[in-house]
Amino acid sequence: MTSTGIGTIANGHRVEGTEKVTGAARYAYEHPVPDAVYAYPVQAPLASGMIGAIDAAEALAMPGVIAVLGGHNTNSFGGKNFELSLFNRTEVTYRGQLVGVVIADTLENARAAAAAVRVDYSPGEHDVVLRADHPGLYRPDKINPGLPTDTGYGDVAAGLAGAAVRIAATYTTPVQHNNPMEPHAAIASWDSGGVLTVYDSTQGPTADRDTIADVLGVDPERVRVVSPHVGGGFGSKGTTRPHAIIAAIAARATGRPVKVALTRQQMFTLTGHRTPTIQHLELGATADGRLTAVAHDVIEHTASRTEFAEQTAACTRVMYGATAMRTTHRLARLNVPAPSWMRAPGEAPGMYALESAMDELATALGMDPVELRIINEPATEPESGLPFSSRNLAACLREGTERFGWAGRDPRPGIRRRGRWLVGTGVAASTYPARRRPSRAVAEAVDGGYEVRIAAADIGTGARTALGEIAASVLGVDAARVRVVLGYSALPDAPLAGGSMGTASWGSAVAAACEALLKDGTHGIADTTQEVAEDAGWARHSFGAQFAEVLVDQLTGEVRVPRLLGVFAAGRIISPVLARSQFIGGMTMGLSMALFEGTAVDASAGAFVRTDLAQYHIATCADVPDVQAFWIDETDPHLWPGGGKGIGEIGITGTAAAIGNAVYHATGRRVRDLPITPAKLLAAERRRTGS
Ligand code: MOS
Repeated sequence: MTSTGIGTIANGHRVEGTEKVTGAARYAYEHPVPDAVYAYPVQAPLASGMIGAIDAAEALAMPGVIAVLGGHNTNSFGGKNFELSLFNRTEVTYRGQLVGVVIADTLENARAAAAAVRVDYSPGEHDVVLRADHPGLYRPDKINPGLPTDTGYGDVAAGLAGAAVRIAATYTTPVQHNNPMEPHAAIASWDSGGVLTVYDSTQGPTADRDTIADVLGVDPERVRVVSPHVGGGFGSKGTTRPHAIIAAIAARATGRPVKVALTRQQMFTLTGHRTPTIQHLELGATADGRLTAVAHDVIEHTASRTEFAEQTAACTRVMYGATAMRTTHRLARLNVPAPSWMRAPGEAPGMYALESAMDELATALGMDPVELRIINEPATEPESGLPFSSRNLAACLREGTERFGWAGRDPRPGIRRRGRWLVGTGVAASTYPARRRPSRAVAEAVDGGYEVRIAAADIGTGARTALGEIAASVLGVDAARVRVVLGYSALPDAPLAGGSMGTASWGSAVAAACEALLKDGTHGIADTTQEVAEDAGWARHSFGAQFAEVLVDQLTGEVRVPRLLGVFAAGRIISPVLARSQFIGGMTMGLSMALFEGTAVDASAGAFVRTDLAQYHIATCADVPDVQAFWIDETDPHLWPGGGKGIGEIGITGTAAAIGNAVYHATGRRVRDLPITPAKLLAAERRRTGS
């Protein structure tokens, strides 16, 4: 038998599709576990202070209550993980912090009793508002995921001073929250041998197991995470969340299996959020549009005890070939939950600001924004000087202009009408890093077919389908003969479904395991640790171009997006059907970021407010009538044998800028503060007319 290499998936229908549409697929909270009881969190109603006495007497006397856990009786776990050392602290650092948990025979009884737990607090001063002049701003040692905080080359001041045209603008983005369809949930149970099983909704069973074991102080061998189906995550399930820990400690304390499901409101404090950003951009260019200087200075927040330094300006280090460049990041420690990952952490807010500024520069130059980007294409990665493993931004822009119908666009703003609507179009570039992480996998010949085992996670992307096809194409058999088992920590260790790294990371290991099976005949194992360690030497990124058409109601400020079109260069597309879903999903989330999403921060209460889906508006079907995604023919040989560069996140990058740029084109108004709401557009209109 000879290997056929990794082919393209013909149909991409989910192998677990029938299970999902018939309801047979079990999500975390749905696993049948006999004799389960229910846990409900007790959360601090203040953003800063000290926790005093906890009086659980009233709660314990309520119907069905089995136990109340908190700092008064359960404080000996947590280890080094501050965020998960739930009751092992006397300090409140954000509103909604977990201070206890009530366990009862029903969810309703647990919830009722949670409200009756009396906790003494000594309130402190809190601060939840990010400001450009925040006195606490500091320079973190690094930004995620280990990148330098500040970078630069050349003389930015001279580049700006000598520029024929320059722009300076500040863009702000709000706190945003991941709202996967499936809320965070877990069931935990300990068997008589002291082995803990956690049915969890997670983006990575291996990492979840290791974190749970570390926090509880037990051997990872004694923790099993079960997570065969996950209803979305977007980063919020990429790290172990408190619901899994409280399920585990409640189960240990009561000797019963414990079920925990966070409410939508609880998710806004317990499952991470995207930091707000204040981004100052300065661009200078020669009269013919060549960038002489780019400066991208970012201010964002982090939690008072946990540092999360989002890599907001990292995209600028990649994008354009300026003569001089500076990127910086400063953080303020606020009384907020720790920020965390949300689809394209860094690139999503960063590309909003950079690509809005590029549009402002194009306007100032009187130049087409597509051409401005193309003439500033760098020969090598600007910041590092490394060669690109592949870079086809210009091809995406060119193909996008054709598909969208960009040619002949009149750049003058505010002059096109369709009935009561002003009409505009906008463009922006996209980028996201292409990376992979070490993974293991096993492939075995079984029952006339093959089984591939890997602790990967399918969070709704179609990972199970894609890995099956990758295995089948290496084995040279029909995909129907390959069964993929994933979603269990007992399987070979694998990295997260995150960072757009899943397919490259897992696919490398699956392909290698199948190659090994072909040699052996019955069995193949793979561990890509060594080969991934040798991945250096290239600048690896996906690129894309996004085009938006918007309609703006001049009287109400309502913005509609009748058309969104993206062209991406993300390496070889292994499954067109699955990939299209990822691109369109990302673009939809970008549209949502542009027009709707933003968590309100109440300064006096020290709280995130309007924390439900009625008030945190996410784009719905009616908001996205026509989203189209295309890709160009590209194979990147420098990341993994499959030739793909990752597709989970690039679709959200640049979208908000394309829409904001189209709003400017429609109206002549620049709203530099996301989301672009009717109120902000009308305020911009009033400022212009002085009315
Ligand atoms: Mo995603 S923010 O890479 O989990």
